[in-house]
Amino acid sequence: MAHRPRTKRPNDRNFPKVPARTIPSDKEEVRLNRYMARSGVCSRREADELIARGEVAVNGQTVVELGTKVTPRDTIEVHGRKIVPLNLAWYILNKPTDTITTTSDERGRRNVMDLFDLPEREKVGLFPVGRLDRDTKGVLLVTNDGDLAHRLMHPSYEIDKVYLVGTESELSDEDLAALLGGITLEDGPAKAGRAAFPDPTVRTVVGISIHEGRNRQVRRMFEALGHKVVSLERISYAGLSVKGIRRGKWRRLSRDEVSALYRKVKL
Ligand code: URA
Repeated sequence: MAHRPRTKRPNDRNFPKVPARTIPSDKEEVRLNRYMARSGVCSRREADELIARGEVAVNGQTVVELGTKVTPRDTIEVHGRKIVPLNLAWYILNKPTDTITTTSDERGRRNVMDLFDLPEREKVGLFPVGRLDRDTKGVLLVTNDGDLAHRLMHPSYEIDKVYLVGTESELSDEDLAALLGGITLEDGPAKAGRAAFPDPTVRTVVGISIHEGRNRQVRRMFEALGHKVVSLERISYAGLSVKGIRRGKWRRLSRDEVSALYRKVKL
């Protein structure tokens, strides 16, 4: 029998943190807004606003031209502080409860970045994509990729977020219909894309998907129907789940997972 050479399969260990097309070579010219987004300071859109407001300097000169091109050899300053491009990195965390979704906390409470057992230099510029309440657990993406994060959080890209909701009181079929039909909250209507009982005999556990990420949205939707939420877990975000990741642990996203996110937000 002919011997077939084994092809080397990519895995997370040999997956570079930067996809080939985003590694800036010394001479590569990129638009200033892209360079700024790669530096983790903001998204491209926010970069355009900073540039237009005259808050960005290239080699000591303020620039307001949105199409300005730069190379890694140029010195870029935002509000007088030099910025450097980062290696892009993408992580998925299985957030535990009793952890706040910030990068630091002056009251010393545990925040999601404390869970990343990485050298400090690799944590520079990382931030959570959106927010989970302190007592919500489950999927949280963490990255320094400003463009991707900005789009994932923007409601127009309709990123699917799926939650498992535990309530104090039992929900009726009418409650499910109300979640699907839309509920008026103080900051506007909110609607579930899907809502169902994973186990029809247990009416205090509901699976629900939403596209937006408004503050305490799921809790407020249930409260509007008279049901107090006693546990909340995000079981999926943009199709990514924490399967295989223990609570409080994280892993890097694979190349395919990052590409799929890019496709979802048309980048
Ligand atoms: N909705 C909430 O109410 N809380 C979360 O943490 C996420 C969605």
